[in-house]
Amino acid sequence: APGAEEFVPHTSDLAQLRAAARGCQGCALHRRATRTVFGEGPEHARVVMIGEQPGDREDLTGHPFVGPAGTLLDRALTDAGIDRGAVYLTNAVKHFKFTERGKRRIHQRPGRTEIVACTPWLGAELRSIRPQLVVCLGAIAAQAVFGTDFRISRERGRVIVQGEHHALATVHPSAVLRSPDRAVAYDEFVGDLTVAAADLA
Ligand code: URA
Ligand code: SF4
Repeated sequence: APGAEEFVPHTSDLAQLRAAARGCQGCALHRRATRTVFGEGPEHARVVMIGEQPGDREDLTGHPFVGPAGTLLDRALTDAGIDRGAVYLTNAVKHFKFTERGKRRIHQRPGRTEIVACTPWLGAELRSIRPQLVVCLGAIAAQAVFGTDFRISRERGRVIVQGEHHALATVHPSAVLRSPDRAVAYDEFVGDLTVAAADLA
């Protein structure tokens, strides 16, 4: 597959980018997923948060972070003093990747090829929005933004100056949900988001 590049229009108009992304065939994921789930939020949000890929709920509704991970993220944003309505939320990969188990669709990690194929959309979103701060939620987003050497465990919760914006990586809200010590993982997640809030203040 050719990657998303040839589907990305040369415009910084977010609505045009979103419309074009509906027809992306830059990798094989568009074949089985229901729809493209593009980013959502203010056109000139000061903060962009990047997840991994849409999940089952996101694929069905077309909106990012509306399932269980999104519910946890909402709560953590509130606890960190960040207004979700002020955040542009998107994903590194814009189609749902899954395996079927009976009637259930089980999330599958996107591969390197799919992440690389989809990054032109993320690049176009960031060039259009020009946020002050980019927050990577989990390793897939962090690799898309910082490269494959980046290690969340080592670098999380630190503000990094990257070209025209600041960036910070933390864990994915799904990792908090899966954590054996959920309360601690949640507090650490909110701690990282509080660092992000302070950087925006
Ligand atoms: N997980 C993500 O990374 N993104 C979503 O939009 C939903 C769940
Ligand atoms: Fe295009 Fe990204 Fe969807 Fe692949 S995952 S088809 S590159 S929008």
